[in-house]
Amino acid sequence: MVDLHHWQLDGSAPELYEKYLVPAITAKWANDLVGRAQPRAGESVLDIACGTGIVARIASRRVRPGHVTGLDLNKGMLAVARSVSSEGAPIDWIEGSALDLPFESGAFDVVLCQLGLQFFPDQERALNEMRRVLSPIGRLALSVYSPIERTPGANAFVSALDRVLGPGASQIKRGEHAFKLPKELRDLLTGAGFANVEVYTVVQQIAFPSVLDYVSFQLLATPMAALLSDRTTDDREAAIETIASETARLSDPTMLEDGRFSFPQEAYVATATPSS
Ligand SMILES: C[S@@+](CC[C@H](N)C(=O)[O-])C[C@H]1O[C@@H](n2cnc3c(N)ncnc32)[C@H](O)[C@@H]1O
Repeated sequence: MVDLHHWQLDGSAPELYEKYLVPAITAKWANDLVGRAQPRAGESVLDIACGTGIVARIASRRVRPGHVTGLDLNKGMLAVARSVSSEGAPIDWIEGSALDLPFESGAFDVVLCQLGLQFFPDQERALNEMRRVLSPIGRLALSVYSPIERTPGANAFVSALDRVLGPGASQIKRGEHAFKLPKELRDLLTGAGFANVEVYTVVQQIAFPSVLDYVSFQLLATPMAALLSDRTTDDREAAIETIASETARLSDPTMLEDGRFSFPQEAYVATATPSS
């Protein structure tokens, strides 16, 4: 039985993102990404599209006494990033675009970009910028989700969204999964002048206490909040409950054992260097 009031839903979308989606989803990917880049003590790290800062914070523990910079377009996400304490090296939070990085060439030993590239309107330009700001012996690690069919919980959710809210309602969520093949990412990276490009297909097991929890936070803590923003609180809760029921109906029963909503989530994780 789903319970919409199981979690405290007060707070802005970036606050809810940090409180619920980061621990359940993006912290897992951040540990994997930072582990692949292996930032070392004393190095300088840039986290592009840092959101509320999970990648930057994990990297900061490894580079102490180095330095970390987190950059994002979104003021609200950065405000939450600044409010979360970090025990690692100091972190600067900068508002800016991945397409025009406000840094000198060669300024960073490590550039990281988790689950951001798919949103950039000019990915080639963003990758050129990443290469420009890396030192000649630096390392890049970035991740994007693979096709949505490879992540069954998200796939059930987008079908439910379109059925309940109308065709096209799932466009934002489907856009997160825009990369079809690892080769697309590999070609973009080599085209932008990166060498030693490796693209790994990685799976994390994601779990939420219930389908309703997953659906609520997708619709309250991400840009999908715009889909229901003109509704009254009661209408919004009713829509979320309907979408959650439909998501559960469209899910494999194995994803719903013990009332939890648990499924594999797949992403392409790439590592590269600016020159061979
Ligand atoms: C799915 S969130 C990922 C945040 C964070 N990396 C994480 O894993 O939790 C995507 C982030 O990309 C940021 N973003 C989108 N377009 C951007 C751009 N052109 N430049 C910088 N950040 C951008 C958004 O503001 C958002 O915070």
